Amino acid sequence: RTARFALDPAFTIGEVNPRLFGSFVEHLGRCVYTGIYEPDHPSADAEGLRTDVLDLVRELGVTTIRYPGGNFVSAYNWEDGVGPAEERPRRLDLAWRSTETNRFGLSEYIAFLRKIGPQAEPMMAINLGTRGVAEALELQEYANHPGGTARSDLRVAHGDKEPFGIGLWCLGNEMDGPWQTGHKTAEEYGRLAAETARAMRQIEPDLELVACGSSGQDMETFAAWEATVLAQTYDLVDYISLHAYYEETEGDRDSFLASAVDTESFIENVVATCDHVGARLKSKKKINLSFDEWNVWYQSRPNPHPVEDWQEAPRILEDVYSVTDAVVFGSLLIALLRHADRVTVACLAQLVNVIAPIMTEPGGAAWRQTTFFPFAQAAKYGRGEVLDVRAVSPTYETKKYGEVDLLHATAVRAEDGSVTVFAVNRSQTEPLPLEVALNRLGLTAVVEHSAVADADPDARNTLQDQERVTPHPVEGTTLQDDGTLTAVLEPLSWNVIRLG
Ligand code: AHR
Repeated sequence: RTARFALDPAFTIGEVNPRLFGSFVEHLGRCVYTGIYEPDHPSADAEGLRTDVLDLVRELGVTTIRYPGGNFVSAYNWEDGVGPAEERPRRLDLAWRSTETNRFGLSEYIAFLRKIGPQAEPMMAINLGTRGVAEALELQEYANHPGGTARSDLRVAHGDKEPFGIGLWCLGNEMDGPWQTGHKTAEEYGRLAAETARAMRQIEPDLELVACGSSGQDMETFAAWEATVLAQTYDLVDYISLHAYYEETEGDRDSFLASAVDTESFIENVVATCDHVGARLKSKKKINLSFDEWNVWYQSRPNPHPVEDWQEAPRILEDVYSVTDAVVFGSLLIALLRHADRVTVACLAQLVNVIAPIMTEPGGAAWRQTTFFPFAQAAKYGRGEVLDVRAVSPTYETKKYGEVDLLHATAVRAEDGSVTVFAVNRSQTEPLPLEVALNRLGLTAVVEHSAVADADPDARNTLQDQERVTPHPVEGTTLQDDGTLTAVLEPLSWNVIRLG
């Protein structure tokens, strides 16, 4: 019952793009208001940003941050969120049946990114639900043109002399979903995305553009949607998006723990579809994948908070994550890393309060959810070249995915030659012995083995008990003289083994 694999510097998947550790801020619930932005909070800075949250965002290690939606963007007028705050209109947010005050907008988003630090990069979604080419161009001119035109001068008049330099744009959001304001067929969307991309490139030819793929592998139009959209946009875009959320249903924890089986097959099926379109077009270009929404999300659970229609910043989607959720979450990170050759952008949805690794109380504390730890560790140590891991593992039976490996793992080799193994044991009851042959990697010592696991797999961090779950050191992990790493992975655990 031992899981085994071998690592070799000659067998690699690809370089990890720092954008793999992106996240997402949507005007949704309390992600923006009382999440990252709360002018009355004791920790707020001059711009109204919560510095306690900024500290946690830096510690989390996020890079690219997608904004402003999500479903929200598909009826959003970006102009509502610029200029003097007191003159900004209050609007109906159709996606989340809330009232949007627009106190936070483009300029505040850029200020937020700049305060996080140089690693933070904008990823701006445009509204292709209720709007189109003209408004995308206007936003681009406002954001990126240095000055001397009506819209760029307006930005300067609004106090932002320097252009925002937004290089990465999403052409709409989940346009395949019937719930999306302005939902379209693949033909309709493909044409609009192509024309928008063509026009945006007339201003800046080198933009990086993401076309909407499917909102999940289970969508009826999956794969046909990607093929139709890419047939029209192949030469005009750089990425196709993927979105996936997972939850435990009907008490079937075994299947939930295997969620990354779906993630990996989703990625592989999208790669196959992209390459099929490329082959038909006789193109040398490869379309990469932007997995710009992923997470655990308990969509089928009723909201425990009372919420009324058209409320400001309602408490919605405030999932409180358990140890089990963190293990599945870690496994989703492993799935992304295992496909780092083609998944070159990924955004954890979302950043604060809304299905988020960071929680806050209005006027009060900010704390780390269980999912904070796998993300922060992967963002810190998952930098470099992903090594090819082909494990032989004991298996278990799941209702949703059939027979699945108990071990889910990847390994990343940093520039200085050190290697980090990320591994999940999916067994709810049994420890999993692990042996790794470290061929020709020149490694001599185990630097650290840390795990997220708990006697109570439902343990959570809450306002009352903010540090109930944190990573703990694991003893007994050794590197033998013959170059074999041996470890024991606790039942239902996320593990980070650092080797130097
Ligand atoms: O992240 C929450 C929502 O999930 C987003 O607004 C939407 O794009 C997706 O359906």
